[in-house]
Amino acid sequence: MSAVRKARTQEGGAPATAAPFAIAVENIVKRYGAFEAVKGITFEVKDGEIFGLLGPNGAGKSTLIRMMTTLMPVTAGRALVAGHDVTKEPNAVRNMIGVIPQALTSDQDLTVYENLLIYAKLYSVPKEKREKNIAAVLEAVDLTKWRGAQTKTLSGGMRRRLEIARGLVHDPRIFFLDEPTTGLDPVSRIAVWEMLNNLKKTRNLTMLLTTHYMEEADRLCDRIAIVDHGTLVALGTPVELKQSVPGSNVVEVQFARESDDWKARLEALTDVTEVQSQSAGVYRVLTSNGSQTTTQLVEMASRLGEQLSSLSVQNTSLDDVFVHYTGRQLRDEQVKAVFQMPPRPGVNA
Ligand SMILES: Nc1ncnc2c1ncn2[C@@H]1O[C@H](COP(=O)(O)OP(=O)(O)OP(=O)(O)O)[C@@H](O)[C@H]1O
Ligand SMILES: [Mg+2]
Repeated sequence: MSAVRKARTQEGGAPATAAPFAIAVENIVKRYGAFEAVKGITFEVKDGEIFGLLGPNGAGKSTLIRMMTTLMPVTAGRALVAGHDVTKEPNAVRNMIGVIPQALTSDQDLTVYENLLIYAKLYSVPKEKREKNIAAVLEAVDLTKWRGAQTKTLSGGMRRRLEIARGLVHDPRIFFLDEPTTGLDPVSRIAVWEMLNNLKKTRNLTMLLTTHYMEEADRLCDRIAIVDHGTLVALGTPVELKQSVPGSNVVEVQFARESDDWKARLEALTDVTEVQSQSAGVYRVLTSNGSQTTTQLVEMASRLGEQLSSLSVQNTSLDDVFVHYTGRQLRDEQVKAVFQMPPRPGVNA
């Protein structure tokens, strides 16, 4: 029995007890005019957790963050952050949180230090603590030696790190990050993941981040809520989510010739639990035994005198989880090991 929670099994309006959770969101709704961007979402974030909201563009991730961080009124339902209701006690919430918005907002014409100082003042960090806090956050994001540099001279990755430092300058307990690595190259992205993981441990932070990168959610988050069209589709640890999808391997196959028969033939193979049609002649085959299915597939093609253009085996990904729960793909990057088949009768190399 999977621990993954689906939206339709969520409880109704039972009041949450604030104490055990850093964040508790109950049936939260956001309407922009007649359009419902968030349609009654419920989840809790435990103390010390890195919690991810994973979803495609327009899913409602930023809207959720804006409501939880008091930047936008809640239409219905409620959100408790550090035990405080965002609608009734916005100032108490603001004192406990750090927020990194989706767009970069540090002032390009100021130095790194000046950007941090403005925020320290804005958040009323006492004068005697400001310098110490600024030095500590600069060190934490590895920007100490750039302290006097103008922000416009920083690379994209460094600027993201400055924004992270800025969000931490007043020592928040709960840190909200909206797409912290969007636009970064893969190396800078991994550096930010490591930094966030370190910050979580050294500063005892709870983090809620949004992302549309599956790998980011997979590697960084303790638990993930998959959001689509304003609803919560599934929630669990990365492992729980993947285990909730029938089949533990995915075989991706491309036949040289498209035929209406492929789907049914693939479904008939032993251990196959699901076959998804991708594009002409391309199928994703979910199976509980990747190697067995691969062998059978190659034998089948050979027997029929058909050629395979490519064949790959991979573990179930969060993309498969997304497809399983929504029927659509979230894939933004191809992260898989493709191996070419050796030449053999009936099979293309
Ligand atoms: N101020 C607004 N007025 C009207 N509609 C809005 C407003 N802000 C967002 N929306 C709509 O609400 C939906 C959710 O938007 P939101 O920005 O929360 O999505 P997101 O998951 O953060 O997407 P992205 O990955 O593109 O950042 C979208 O359809 C968007 O067009
Ligand atoms: Mg967004």
